[in-house]
Amino acid sequence: MKLRSLMFGALAMAISSFALAQQPIIIKFSHVVATDTPKGKAADFFALKVGELTKGRVKVEVYPNSQLYKDKEEMEALQIGSVQMLAPSLAKFGPIGVKEFEVFDLPFIFDGIDSLRKVTLGPVGAQLLAKLEPKGIKGLAYWDNGFKSFSANTPIKSPADMKGKKFRIQSSKVLEEEIRALGGLPQVMAFSEVYQALQTGVVDGTENPISNLYTQKMHEVQKHLTLTEHGYLGYAVIVNKKFWDGLPADIQKQLVDAMEQSTRYANQIAKVENDTALEGVKKSGKTQVYVPTKEERLAFKQALVPVHQAMESRIGKELIQSVYKEIKFNPAKL
Ligand code: LMR
Repeated sequence: MKLRSLMFGALAMAISSFALAQQPIIIKFSHVVATDTPKGKAADFFALKVGELTKGRVKVEVYPNSQLYKDKEEMEALQIGSVQMLAPSLAKFGPIGVKEFEVFDLPFIFDGIDSLRKVTLGPVGAQLLAKLEPKGIKGLAYWDNGFKSFSANTPIKSPADMKGKKFRIQSSKVLEEEIRALGGLPQVMAFSEVYQALQTGVVDGTENPISNLYTQKMHEVQKHLTLTEHGYLGYAVIVNKKFWDGLPADIQKQLVDAMEQSTRYANQIAKVENDTALEGVKKSGKTQVYVPTKEERLAFKQALVPVHQAMESRIGKELIQSVYKEIKFNPAKL
């Protein structure tokens, strides 16, 4: 009797440790935008791919729309391991001390996705991701959103139209300088708070790619949108380094594979998502969409390119020069 119950106990223990071994590894992936955006869709795609490639050994749980954490909190949560993965915009690394990512915020530096890609896929892109490691973060990829445009409750056709207006920005000193260069008043705010701030008049306007504006319904509380496309907004997909280093090698390989596929997907859909969102804004009839003339856009460019030099002491002259070289940008030739 005693032997039988001992054997029974041993069997139960073996079964439960087998069950434990079968428990999937959970990756909590938190982000601040809607599901229906380039980042939202790419995060869901990644979750799906990881499930397929690891045959269920890893489960990615995606938490969109600041459901778990707002901008600043999500960075802290990643560093302490409360979540394992994020894709913050490149404008949000200053507060954790990696201000070099703000090079991507320099207004009018990229004249299109191709020149941006030269940087993210080249040595500069890799060097920047490596700067995250001492912060306990591993950078896995860059994902696109697109180019930002200004919106407000009054028409914006020239820098003078921004004078004295309060603009919500992400937590980047380059963006602060950008709004100041236009005579506006920058106000850093978490993405989840922007709609309300616009609605209640805490700020007058903002800047974002159209997919973010539309999916947060900001167009319902902004009467004017000018397609300035004055700066880039993209993401670094990052993971808690300790968590990553502790994963078995075969799992790491499958995650890298899933990430490569998701990056291709993200970068393929980004423009389409923004174009569709723009159609939605137009159809809503709530916001007047204005396409600046060549001369009007040039006036913004002339006002904003000096921000590059003004930010040399923050992000490094050498870094700015190496980006210029990579994309053949000449600030003297606008
Ligand atoms: C913002 O805060 O405006 C954006 O960074 C949001 C996002 O993640 O696209």
